[in-house]
Amino acid sequence: MRVTTERLHLRPLRDGDETDLLDYRGRDDVNRYLESDPLTADAAPAFVAERTALTHLTRDGDRILLGVELDGRLIGDVRLKSSGTLADRQGEIGWVFHPGYAGHGYATEAARALVRLGFDELKLHRIWAQLDPRNTASARVCERLGMRREGVLREESWFKGEWADLAVYALLASEWAEM
Ligand SMILES: CC(C)(COP(=O)(O)OP(=O)(O)OC[C@H]1O[C@@H](n2cnc3c(N)ncnc32)[C@H](O)[C@@H]1OP(=O)(O)O)[C@@H](O)C(=O)NCCC(=O)NCCS
Repeated sequence: MRVTTERLHLRPLRDGDETDLLDYRGRDDVNRYLESDPLTADAAPAFVAERTALTHLTRDGDRILLGVELDGRLIGDVRLKSSGTLADRQGEIGWVFHPGYAGHGYATEAARALVRLGFDELKLHRIWAQLDPRNTASARVCERLGMRREGVLREESWFKGEWADLAVYALLASEWAEM
């Protein structure tokens, strides 16, 4: 599972990624709207080991998680998770990037490659994303991908010490084909 885009190389996580991962996933600001807490040095080896084999959507709940390399450095990761059953052909997409590489379109470029993989190769029917609407940078990635904002669930969860809204964005295979 390897994908090359104009500027980036997407590939499974592997031993040795711990330092680059800690650089961004270890930060408070990066985890502000993620379910996770900042990654620690102690937890990093297990984090990598649990994710190196996430390369297929062949069973319900499977995930693909790819590290995103720029000039040989891991600057982020993107994931596509089978939601519902495989027969539903629904994929939930997500992205996490190093703030030091923000503002260049890298997240959008990597996510678009994953959307292409999801629709063109894995034959998904719908790809969707969920996010806190205050996470405007993430919402803009959805919009650049052509995803539709389908709605906002008000105070949908108790999240990191407060009630949080949840916005859902989605793109259908038929809409992707028209782009
Ligand atoms: C969400 C996140 C990936 C967005 O990062 P980002 O840098 O804003 O997104 P991109 O890499 O796609 O860059 C887009 C920006 O680069 C600009 N840009 C510059 N060159 C570009 C290019 N060639 N192509 C596209 N955009 C380009 C865009 O205009 C845009 O700027 P704007 O948002 O101010 O309009 C990042 O904020 C992040 O990792 N956050 C923490 C984790 C997180 O919250 N994940 C999502 C959970 S739902």
